[in-house]
Amino acid sequence: MITIAVTAEREGEPRVAVSPETVKKLSALGCTVKVEAGAGASSRFADETLKAQGAVIAASAAEALGGADILLKVRRPTPEEVKALKPGAIVAAMLSPFDDRPGLDALAGSGAALMAMEFMPRISRAQSMDVLSSQANLAGYKAVIDAAAMFEQAMPMMMTAAGTVPAAKVFIMGVGVAGLQAIATARRLGAIVSATDVRPATKEQVASLGAKFVAVEDEEFKQAQTAAGYAKPMSAEYQKKQAELIASHIKTQDIVITTALIPGRPAPRLVTAAMVESMKPGAVIVDLAAERGGNCELTQPDKVIEHKGVSIAGPINLAGEVPVNASSLYAKNLLAFLETMIDKKEKALKVNWDDEIIKGTLVAKDGRIVHPSLQPQGA
Ligand code: NAI
Repeated sequence: MITIAVTAEREGEPRVAVSPETVKKLSALGCTVKVEAGAGASSRFADETLKAQGAVIAASAAEALGGADILLKVRRPTPEEVKALKPGAIVAAMLSPFDDRPGLDALAGSGAALMAMEFMPRISRAQSMDVLSSQANLAGYKAVIDAAAMFEQAMPMMMTAAGTVPAAKVFIMGVGVAGLQAIATARRLGAIVSATDVRPATKEQVASLGAKFVAVEDEEFKQAQTAAGYAKPMSAEYQKKQAELIASHIKTQDIVITTALIPGRPAPRLVTAAMVESMKPGAVIVDLAAERGGNCELTQPDKVIEHKGVSIAGPINLAGEVPVNASSLYAKNLLAFLETMIDKKEKALKVNWDDEIIKGTLVAKDGRIVHPSLQPQGA
């Protein structure tokens, strides 16, 4: 029998690592899912609903954790939580492995097998486990909805007897998962949409969503995608050319949504204060890269500021603002991941430590940090 613990997240994180659907499926796989009372409340998963699908509702976090084989979380758990588990238990969460290294070392010291969902390899077999995609998709959608709410004008063109309301111009910077959903959402709202990225593959994707592609398409651009599908940091020369192009484009835009990221690095600075000042009063910027330093120079994480008439939002947990969907999809990602570790016949844990998915996500085991990207440089 496998015991899975799910505890409430820390203050300010509305998501939860389980849903009624995943409780039912995990129970069918022979797991006992212990959920701390109230853990699903912000995602509208009532204790009774989870219980009806087979969950055991624990009165406290300690009761849920005691002797569990697996702990599922949205964010990094506390060392106390991990210590309460069975020795060598599995922890699956978005561990933010590049942040707070001493904290990560302390967790690793517990001897648990720590698995960072952000490190899920982007291979087709693992698509259903890709938390970055499931959450970024919702964030891209919510960014446009928030921007539309902040924008004191209408999004679609309206031809009325009293005159024409022009369509809003929306510019999406960074066309990964979040950016693609932002383009689609802005288009559905009737905006005129343009988008930019440094990866050539995005050009066709932007066009297929009915938006205009704006980018410096030189030799460096043709090589900007890594084998893993991510962007490379661009040269100073490219950045200069890109800044010139963006400066001339951005001043005509009503709404700018920035989503540009490079794995393991600070967000690239794409929007300068001068560019913001060139925008029209009432324009809106939503910077999805706020948590990683922001794509806009003026962004303040977790705040909405106004600079010379331009509103700049730096949300840090947009997926968490649609918690019902975000938790449902995240829980499904975890379920798909756990299914690879459970022997369905024996109803027992059977982890294949050589599996690419396990090796890719495993941050620490037996008290040591084992992930290659977390080893000291040159080691
Ligand atoms: P991300 O969140 O790391 O970055 C967002 C976007 O910012 C990327 O498109 C990136 O090219 C862009 N960017 C970086 N630096 C930039 C700059 N200086 N100027 C303009 N744009 C810049 O990316 P995300 O959303 O994680 O997607 C990365 C890739 O992975 C995409 O090709 C996506 O389609 C692919 N992917 C593959 C999956 C799979 O095979 N399982 C699942 C999900 C995504």
